[in-house]
Amino acid sequence: MSFLSCLFKSLAYLSPVILAAWFTPMGRYYLRIGIYITLMSAVGLTSGITAFVMTVAGMKYDVNHVVASTFYWVTSRTLNITIEMEGEENLQTRPAVMIGNHQSMVDILWLGRMFPKQASIMAKKSIKWNPVLGLFMNLSGTVFVDRGNSAKAHRSLEAAGAGMKARRTSLFIFAEGTRHSEEVPNLLPFKKGAFHLAIKGGIPIVPVVCENYWRLYRKGFFGTGTIKVKVLPPISTAGLSIEDVSALATRVRDQMLATLREISVTVPSEKPPLTEVLGDAASTEGPPTPTIPSEPTRRVEESEPADVASTTSSRVLQKDGSENGTETEEDEGMVLVGHPK
Ligand SMILES: *[C@@H]1O[C@H](CO)[C@@H](O)[C@H](O)[C@H]1NC(C)=O
Ligand SMILES: *[C@@H]1O[C@H](CO)[C@@H](O)[C@H](O)[C@H]1NC(C)=O
Ligand SMILES: *[C@@H]1O[C@H](CO)[C@@H](O)[C@H](O)[C@H]1NC(C)=O
Repeated sequence: MSFLSCLFKSLAYLSPVILAAWFTPMGRYYLRIGIYITLMSAVGLTSGITAFVMTVAGMKYDVNHVVASTFYWVTSRTLNITIEMEGEENLQTRPAVMIGNHQSMVDILWLGRMFPKQASIMAKKSIKWNPVLGLFMNLSGTVFVDRGNSAKAHRSLEAAGAGMKARRTSLFIFAEGTRHSEEVPNLLPFKKGAFHLAIKGGIPIVPVVCENYWRLYRKGFFGTGTIKVKVLPPISTAGLSIEDVSALATRVRDQMLATLREISVTVPSEKPPLTEVLGDAASTEGPPTPTIPSEPTRRVEESEPADVASTTSSRVLQKDGSENGTETEEDEGMVLVGHPK
């Protein structure tokens, strides 16, 4: 299982440097990554039991809240990172489709701080068959979406919306679809499934913006401090139809990007990130997105097809370009607990 192998790999990386750890920036980085992943695994492994007990007790839709806040409670204290919330009252809207921005596996920390009761997450359907995660996610009421099958995907989105309304539960989605981290605050294009669900179900959207935390966490650096998260007022979808999906996605993204720029502390880094030096450390981080400067990403938004040099950006472009307002793909990095690879 990738999760465990990743854990063991991190621990293996950790052991040779453990003594020197606190005396070198690199050692500190590895040690803190190791602690983060270890705590994530520990909470992850016990969450199955939590989920089972809570489901039996009829509290299925509070499972994510309990597991996430446990993780936050432990990890924020251990790593000395605090999440500062603004606009938390907007989370009382229920049902709501909460849209978040996705930077790295450290997002679980702010999810842990903000994740409300009576809410679940959306994940791609293939995870359903993962022996550990699949069970946990089933127990916590995850909305599974079929990728690459538009008709089925739409049916499951609509059924999810109807279920949310009937139960008055909310749903959290990373609309960018994959994690993305760079020094300059920015967002990838949004995938449209969340907006389709919200419009079809007549459910309001509640954007949740986490500031760009590059200054605290990037390849080669994992510091301490405060990360700001701002919850925006609900955006009604009443009276909108399927034709409005793209416009709504754009509107929400614009608003979130403006907020992201407003709340992010941008500290110019004195040294380039230690990407090259670290090499394989990237394996704890995820897809090789972070070294791409802001320029290509912005070009993607402007939809210039031919000359996007970066492979990552052109992949994004292709994915987005093949959409015609009908989202079939679901959020890649959605299941944070369990694949920090
Ligand atoms: C969980 O599994 C049960 C039994 O297979 C199924 O009826 C239910 O729909 C699943 N729940 C989710 C959220 O997938
Ligand atoms: C926790 O982090 C803050 C902000 O970076 C720092 O000022 C403080 O000294 C840290 N506390 C400990 C115990 O390391
Ligand atoms: C979207 O595009 C695909 C081909 O790219 C096409 O088969 C499909 O009918 C289109 N859907 C809509 C709603 O236009």
